[in-house]
Amino acid sequence: MENSQAALLTLGFLLFLKGSSALVVTPVTDPVISKVGDNAMLEIKPPGVLVSVVWFFSPAKIPVVSWTGINPVIGAGYENRVTLNTTTGSVELRSVNLRDDGVYMFQGTTFTSGRERFIGSVTLRVYEPITNVNVKPSLAQPIANQALNLTCEVLGSQTVSSRLWLKDSQPLSTSDRITLSVDSSVVSFNPVLQSDNGEYQCKASNPVSEVTSAGYRLEVNYGPEQASITAPDSAAEGSSVTFTCSAQSLPPCNYTWYFNETETAQGLQYNIASVTNADRGSYTCVAWNSVTGRNTSAVKEFIVTGLGSLSSGEIAGIVICTLAGVTGVALGVYFSVKLCRNNPHDLKPGPAQSSTGAVTYENFKGPSASATYENTTAIRIATLIQETSQQPYSL
Ligand SMILES: *[C@@H]1O[C@H](CO)[C@@H](O)[C@H](O)[C@H]1NC(C)=O
Ligand SMILES: *[C@@H]1O[C@H](CO)[C@@H](O)[C@H](O)[C@H]1NC(C)=O
Ligand SMILES: *[C@@H]1O[C@H](CO)[C@@H](O)[C@H](O)[C@H]1NC(C)=O
Ligand SMILES: *[C@@H]1O[C@H](CO)[C@@H](O)[C@H](O)[C@H]1NC(C)=O
Ligand SMILES: *[C@@H]1O[C@H](CO)[C@@H](O)[C@H](O)[C@H]1NC(C)=O
Repeated sequence: MENSQAALLTLGFLLFLKGSSALVVTPVTDPVISKVGDNAMLEIKPPGVLVSVVWFFSPAKIPVVSWTGINPVIGAGYENRVTLNTTTGSVELRSVNLRDDGVYMFQGTTFTSGRERFIGSVTLRVYEPITNVNVKPSLAQPIANQALNLTCEVLGSQTVSSRLWLKDSQPLSTSDRITLSVDSSVVSFNPVLQSDNGEYQCKASNPVSEVTSAGYRLEVNYGPEQASITAPDSAAEGSSVTFTCSAQSLPPCNYTWYFNETETAQGLQYNIASVTNADRGSYTCVAWNSVTGRNTSAVKEFIVTGLGSLSSGEIAGIVICTLAGVTGVALGVYFSVKLCRNNPHDLKPGPAQSSTGAVTYENFKGPSASATYENTTAIRIATLIQETSQQPYSL
């Protein structure tokens, strides 16, 4: 059955080819664009009253349908999905699939004042609609001043004719720093900056569909920058003091506090409930952003005032005078004091520190230290002065 159909179609075609010159008919629409599953109309307007027509699918010249005045003969594989309009010679192809994409040739005869042959072709383009579009960053956590790519990913085998990028629902402007790949599938930020923050979408389209991706929110991680410590420059003994560190950072950074180079606390704030003279020194806050891998620090010198009858200026003078000789002693004294006091902000006696300017606190035995502490400032300072003349303790 199918063989005889094919034979008939082929015969029609061969007969046609033997004929004289033919009129080239331009199809009504060319190319015809169709979506998988839709019906496609291959429409022609013959130059007279249609006498016969035959359609082939190129390039293998597969017969689709032929008609010579009786019932149309449908080609193999086109059963139930091809209808020939015997008035116009147009063909309707139903429920098209990707294999139907291609060139369809038609030939036929019409009658006006005599028989006239015509010939032509029409291209059918069948597209799968785009269904799934995503924006994918090249880094899960983009970092300021590094390169970043955003890729417009179309899942599936669909043909994509064009991609359009949107930032905050507006077409993305490109620049020397923000460039598109040739097919617009990749936006490259070189480097990415905080000013690029926003919601990015990709609109992918082909002739039968247009899909806009969900938004990708770009948040550029940066910092820490501009670390600073907020705290009074000085405070009286017994008062409470809070040191607050701040830095610009995304994600919010972690803070570590150092007193005279020794780590003392973690957190945004460092609190001293009751200030003692041992709290005098330098406070360093190190702001750390583990995402950018960067550290920034700020230092604050802190002075303790209100020591007995001496003004802080006088104390400063004494301390400076004695510092050269008794730094070690002084450190020891203060440290022992801290151990005894057991304040919440106390330095933790830990393993011997081997880093810069380390003092091996736990090994220190200051004979006069604890005794000295309990007494007044005047006595303490006197002790310091007295010790100036002695050999400093070896630490
Ligand atoms: C054939 O096409 C003509 C012109 O488009 C239309 O008027 C006619 O109804 C069609 N015939 C059939 C059987 O579909
Ligand atoms: C970004 O994409 C370009 C191609 O468009 C590629 O050459 C480059 O290596 C990519 N960079 C990153 C950081 O992924
Ligand atoms: C901390 O350092 C300052 C000088 O910067 C010094 O006067 C003070 O004694 C030191 N304190 C301790 C406990 O080491
Ligand atoms: C802060 O520290 C916590 C715990 O160590 C860690 O999970 C977090 O990623 C850190 N944050 C930053 C910005 O470094
Ligand atoms: C930053 O500080 C953290 C925690 O104090 C430390 O682990 C890290 O090694 C430091 N990184 C740099 C680059 O200094």
